[in-house]
Amino acid sequence: MSDIDSVLKEARVFPPPPEFQKKAHIKSLDEYRALYKRSVEDPEGFWAEQAATLEWTRKWDRALEWNAPFAKWFVNGALNLSANCLDRHVAGPRPDKTAIIWEGEPGEVRRLTYAELLREVCRFANVLKGLGVKKGDRVGIYMPMIPEAAAAMLACTRIGATHNVVFGGFSAEAVRDRMNDSEAKLIVTADGGYRRGAVVPLKANVDAALAACPTVKHVVVVKRTGQDVPMQAGRDVWWHEQMEKASAECAPEPLDSEHPLFILYTSGTTGKPKGVVHSTGGYLLQVALTTKYVFDLKDEDVYWCTADIGWVTGHSYVVYGPLCNGGTTLMYEGAPNHPGPDRFWSIVERHKATIFYTAPTAIRAFLRWGDQWPKKHDLTSLRLLGTVGEPINPEAWMWYRRVIGGDRCPIVDTWWQTETGAIMITPLPGAIPTKPGSGTLPFFGVVPEVVDKDGQPVGPEAGGYLVIQKPWPSMLRTIYGDPERYVEQYWKRFPGIYFTGDGARKDKDGYFWIMGRVDDVINVAGHRLGTMEIESALVSHPKVAEAAVVGRPDELKGSALVCFVTPRSGTTADEALRTELKGHVVKEIGALARPDDIRFTEALPKTRSGKIMRRLLRDIAAGKATVGDTTTLEDYSVLAKLREEEE
Ligand code: PRX
Repeated sequence: MSDIDSVLKEARVFPPPPEFQKKAHIKSLDEYRALYKRSVEDPEGFWAEQAATLEWTRKWDRALEWNAPFAKWFVNGALNLSANCLDRHVAGPRPDKTAIIWEGEPGEVRRLTYAELLREVCRFANVLKGLGVKKGDRVGIYMPMIPEAAAAMLACTRIGATHNVVFGGFSAEAVRDRMNDSEAKLIVTADGGYRRGAVVPLKANVDAALAACPTVKHVVVVKRTGQDVPMQAGRDVWWHEQMEKASAECAPEPLDSEHPLFILYTSGTTGKPKGVVHSTGGYLLQVALTTKYVFDLKDEDVYWCTADIGWVTGHSYVVYGPLCNGGTTLMYEGAPNHPGPDRFWSIVERHKATIFYTAPTAIRAFLRWGDQWPKKHDLTSLRLLGTVGEPINPEAWMWYRRVIGGDRCPIVDTWWQTETGAIMITPLPGAIPTKPGSGTLPFFGVVPEVVDKDGQPVGPEAGGYLVIQKPWPSMLRTIYGDPERYVEQYWKRFPGIYFTGDGARKDKDGYFWIMGRVDDVINVAGHRLGTMEIESALVSHPKVAEAAVVGRPDELKGSALVCFVTPRSGTTADEALRTELKGHVVKEIGALARPDDIRFTEALPKTRSGKIMRRLLRDIAAGKATVGDTTTLEDYSVLAKLREEEE
């Protein structure tokens, strides 16, 4: 197999704005470089120093014990995550500071101070104990985006129960499989949650799931929507009734640094979900440090990460990172286009959000809905924008910068994974000049490289496989119940180094350009092209909102390029546009990437977290029936439509 040919050309560079730089935690490229150098010459020394920013109940003996590929960070240290996120702020300068600003989809707003959140968490920790949950037990959380979800997570960490959050958009089957795989003892849910004006029947899904979950003994139900739900005597209890009776005092349990904090199942775009296990001390340290430096978080910020707590981004950057830093984190329950396509912008305006962190899939949707929606609102409170989850096409990046950021806000394109726990490759907004579509440089202590199939660095500008060469504190520790799969999946391909599964290129400035999953690489006439780069060329055309490119087996070329294209609102999708787009890709990339086939579609099939499911599109392009797991499909009707168009 040859390496990956990178064809994306992008020459724009945006230095940090001087006013931003002056006030930033890290103020210049030189400062970043000096600290980075220090951090990789002696990563253990660097992380050991940083560990002093957390509150430990027992000091650790060694920063790292590395029996590749199994790591222990802060060996024999003990701490409690909820104490780091809550108690120390309450005992310190922030008891009355707002910890969470919450907005429900119907429009209600709640604010919880650090002192109030701590009381909620202690109460719920006592409720869990009362229902027989002990240190080391697994607790399922299947909830809407409401403050109780964050409180439930923190309550688990207070007593040392390992949480397993399942995204509220998943089905009963997904809940059942995840509860069984993790052998959960209790599940926290709500009667329902609001999504695009409708009610998601969470409790009904739990009831269906529990028909085949023998380990789950209790269900705690938050009353959110007030619809009628049957309560099974002896098993189901109401959150509010339990909380009323519970004491607001609960001492935080000192936990070993390596104590399993949570399990999170990655749905991914292929294969059976894996229960990724994260530990306590190392995870919290890297999450807290990245939140501070990547988002340049200050006490006065109103920080909004739009991720659902069902994803790792929700764990690390809605709940734990901001709270550990004493920040104010904004949570929104519902859809971005309810009641109108400007809902997010009205939230930014109403709460004067200063930092906004979202996903490329959302940005491309905003772009498609049109500039008029953000233009209706005052977005001048924003000072920093972020993106995560997929490669962002340079044109979507430019739109984000111009229309949402008013050409004023730096953009941090943060590369990381459920498995990495925290951000790994990213700009620091006051220090690192950005280039649209690049995650730029590694975070402190992180040593990534782009290698060929033999594990040798490929050198500047060449495409290859993205690996991480040294262990990092927030790395996954194992796959729950399946350490062999952990070794097989991440550490076999290049022995002793971590294989991310992503393709990438490093440019002459050492900037990383992530090309997406390596299974999204197509071999066209001997060139291995990352689909993301061809998609970016398509999206750079003014009539295109979104595109997905897949290969179709072709006798002559190996693969033919099939492009699924969603035009912008108001565009006629016809033969003329097809010809125009083919010419456009040739102009942007070259004749080697000329699309063989362009199919117009109103929407693309996506995973629940918004990643395009190219596997399904490949099957459609090849005329095959869909195979494999489709439980993560956002919208089955999209798939049916694409099929119809084919017939
Ligand atoms: O392919 C990369 C892509 O998302 C994958 C990780 O997905 P998940 O575990 O769901 O975590 C998402 C939130 C961290 C990566 O292997 N990815 C994530 N962020 C970026 C990205 N690709 C390019 N640029 C990014 N900033």
